[in-house]
Amino acid sequence: MFDAKELARKAIEAKSKAVAPYSNFHVGAALLSSSGRIFQGANIENSSYGLTICAERTAAFQAVLEGERDFEAIAIAGDTEDYLPPCGACRQVLSDLCGKNLEVILTNGKGEIKTFKLSELLPFSFGEDYLKS
Ligand code: THU
Repeated sequence: MFDAKELARKAIEAKSKAVAPYSNFHVGAALLSSSGRIFQGANIENSSYGLTICAERTAAFQAVLEGERDFEAIAIAGDTEDYLPPCGACRQVLSDLCGKNLEVILTNGKGEIKTFKLSELLPFSFGEDYLKS
């Protein structure tokens, strides 16, 4: 079993890498592969705002580029008081790349964590199976 608190700490650490001059909203993520590696991500904004990429996706794409295709959990951290949930686009990307069983660890401003299955955050999701019918 992985250490959810440790993964949350890695997400908080990754937040410092955010490039967010437009929103000033810094987000960090830490994605744990089944092989035990942790991939950190942070949001990277763009002056053409729509080209911004979220922390969760930078972590997921980096992990895939490094050859990982099986994942256990992702932790997400921001500077919000309440638990920071992943946006809809990231839920879809995580569902495709990491699967619906992924554990999603949310953190709040008090350093507390709350864990969900991705399937709870993205029920009745679109996926590759629909492309086969
Ligand atoms: N952001 C993330 O990195 N992850 C999310 O799940 C929510 C939003 C980023 C995108 C943008 O740089 C900033 O937060 C404000 O939306």
